[in-house]
Amino acid sequence: MSNLKRLAVLTSGGDAPGMNAAIRAVVRTALAQGIQTMGVTSGYAGLVEGRFRPLDSLAVSGIIQRGGTVLHSARCPAFRLPDTQHQAVRYLEEAGIEALIVIGGNGSQQGTLALHRLGFPVVGIASTIDNDLAETETTIGVDTALNTAVGYIDRLRDTASSHHRAFVIEVMGRDSGYLAVMTAIAIGAETAVVPELSLDPEAVAQDVQAAYARGKTHYIVVVAEGAALKAWQLTDYLSHHASGVDARLSVLGHVQRGGSPTVRDRVLASQFGTAAVQSLLEGHRGIVIGLSKGHIIEIPLEAAIAPCEKVTPQLLALAGILAR
Ligand code: ADP
Ligand code: F6P
Ligand code: MG
Repeated sequence: MSNLKRLAVLTSGGDAPGMNAAIRAVVRTALAQGIQTMGVTSGYAGLVEGRFRPLDSLAVSGIIQRGGTVLHSARCPAFRLPDTQHQAVRYLEEAGIEALIVIGGNGSQQGTLALHRLGFPVVGIASTIDNDLAETETTIGVDTALNTAVGYIDRLRDTASSHHRAFVIEVMGRDSGYLAVMTAIAIGAETAVVPELSLDPEAVAQDVQAAYARGKTHYIVVVAEGAALKAWQLTDYLSHHASGVDARLSVLGHVQRGGSPTVRDRVLASQFGTAAVQSLLEGHRGIVIGLSKGHIIEIPLEAAIAPCEKVTPQLLALAGILAR
């Protein structure tokens, strides 16, 4: 593929801080090799409408520090349909685009796999605050999202402690408790509730009371949005079944998706973007760029979208032990 002349890049699914840094790295690495980059607007939704525009060096100037994505993102349910996928390939070919880089999470990389199976040259870049792609230790955006959550929860703990309250705090994570467990460890939460493990609200109620009896002035539970036991249900349960416990609910929500990327996310995104172009130049395709043991790696798409097991019993146990 060393005669590659034109590629395209898109951002898809939930946006993640650092996506802009990755776009910038793709465009500038490609330019250095004499390759033109076309930006696709609004992920697969724009791809199936042929919404392409050329990106030169200036188009990606001043974006490395910005959250969100200058290419915009979208959820596009229609992209699951083979007809829509064929249409996308037709548009790419008509525009003289020879390869596509998809910056996104586990859903987006299923779309990448569909295009790969149609024979179109594709490379994915692991990017989602959920950190739920397999075989990569991390994804672009998760470090910023964690730091954002920790910043807000440190503030909540101040007021929780002043009022001797229990706070149930919902963080993002559709099917993954990664944000919840790592946030819980980082802020010293008493309990983490994750989709990967079911938890009885009565066990939490008893633990809050035991913590108060030991002299604790606050109790923090971090709940993943996708957990079976919802944050509002737990708050309700504590309010009605844990005597002497004044419980409050706080939903962090989409603040975790925005904001200026951390240094780690900017550097990771820059490395991933450059690696994606290099992989295409080497003729590699059907892969996702990720990180393992400090090295940038190529993960076969099928492996990257397989169930992810980052929330281990050891991590959950660590959160529990350190809170006692
Ligand atoms: P993320 O990439 O952040 O996990 P989503 O799960 O919402 O976000 O997926 C983003 C988009 O990827 C979807 O809106 C859809 O266009 C595409 N996509 C998801 N799953 C598939 C699939 N099985 N086949 C084809 N495209 C898919
Ligand atoms: O995939 C990232 C994510 O932020 C999940 O944690 C969350 O469940 C979902 O996106 C929210 O999606 P939306 O932006 O459509 O509300
Ligand atoms: Mg996802």
